[in-house]
Amino acid sequence: MDILKLLKINILVVVTELGRGKLLREVAREVFGEGVASKVWGRIEVIGDIAVIRKPPDLDIGVLRVLAQELLKRLKYVKSVWAAITPIEGAYRIRQYVHLAGEPRSVTLYKEHGCIFKIDITKVYISPALNYEHIRIAKQVQDGEFIINMFAGAGLFSIIIAKHAKPKKVISIDINPHAYELMKENVKLNKVGDVVEPVLGDAGEVVLKYKETADRILMPLPELAYKYIPRALYALKKEGIIHVYDFISAEKEEQAIEQAKIKYLTKLKELKTQPQIQHARTVRSVGPRYYQVTLDIKIMKSLHYRLCV
Ligand SMILES: C[S@@+](CC[C@H](N)C(=O)[O-])C[C@H]1O[C@@H](n2cnc3c(N)ncnc32)[C@H](O)[C@@H]1O
Repeated sequence: MDILKLLKINILVVVTELGRGKLLREVAREVFGEGVASKVWGRIEVIGDIAVIRKPPDLDIGVLRVLAQELLKRLKYVKSVWAAITPIEGAYRIRQYVHLAGEPRSVTLYKEHGCIFKIDITKVYISPALNYEHIRIAKQVQDGEFIINMFAGAGLFSIIIAKHAKPKKVISIDINPHAYELMKENVKLNKVGDVVEPVLGDAGEVVLKYKETADRILMPLPELAYKYIPRALYALKKEGIIHVYDFISAEKEEQAIEQAKIKYLTKLKELKTQPQIQHARTVRSVGPRYYQVTLDIKIMKSLHYRLCV
C-alpha cells in the first residue's frame, strides 16, 4: 500500500463531503432509478482507502455490488468498498461486513490529527465520528499527567494525546486481542512507545493495579462507563478528571445532556465524591431521540470516600 499517498488524503474533508449522503443516492438513481435510490442509506464512511456503506434490509447485496463498482470509478482514492450488514455489536463493538468491490482487503491506514493508524475494519472499532473528541481531550491534557484509557480500541485517543500533549504515561487498555495487536503496531508507527503502554484485558480488572495513580481516566465505551465508575474512581487520584461516554434516550439533545449530568452526578455523590461537570456535549445522534453524550467531570474524593469496587 502506498502510505505516502494515503497520508495526503484529507479524511475530514472526504467524510464531510460524503457524509451529506448525496453521492451514493445519485449513483443509485443513475444506475437503478428512484426506487433503489430512495432505499439506499446515503452515508458513506471512508476509513483510509476503504469506503463502507450500509446494507438496507430491503436491498439485495447484488445491487450494492453494482453501486460499489461505480463508487470505485468515481472516488479514485477508494480502493476497496465494503457493506456493513449489522449494527455495531458485541463486547468488541464491531460490525459484520461483506466485501463488495475493489481490493479484497479490510486493512487500511487511517490518518487523524497528524497520526497514522493501521486499522482492520472487520476486527476493531473505528469511527471517524470520534475525530473531534480525540483532539478535544488531547488539548486538555497537562504536562506530566498519568492517564488511563480504559477502552482504547486501536489506540486513537491514547496516541493522539501522546502526540499533541506531554503526558507522563497513557495506560491504554482493550479487551479485544486484535485491537491490542493493532494498538501495539500503531504505537510503533507513531513512535510513542515511551508514553503509551498497551494492555490487553478487562479494564475493570486492569485498573485495580493502579490504585489512586491516575490524573485523568477516559471511559469511551457507553455500554460500560457507568458500571465501571467505581473501578475508575479506584484508580483516580484524590483529585482528577474522568471523561465518560453514554447513550441517553431523550426528546431533545439538551435534555439528553441534562439527563446524563443527573445520572453521573447522582452516582458520584453516592460514592462520596464531589463531582463538578466541566464540560458536556453530544457526540452524535445515534438514532431517533437517542444520543451519545460525553461529560468531562472533575472529581474530588471527600473525606468519607472509601475505596470500593
Ligand atoms: C467504542 S470502542 C473504543 C473506541 C476508541 N477509544 C477510539 O477512539 O476509536 C470501545 C472499546 O472497548 C473495548 N472493550 C469492551 N469491553 C471492554 C472491557 N471490559 N475492558 C476493556 N476494553 C473493553 C472494545 O473492544 C472496544 O475496542
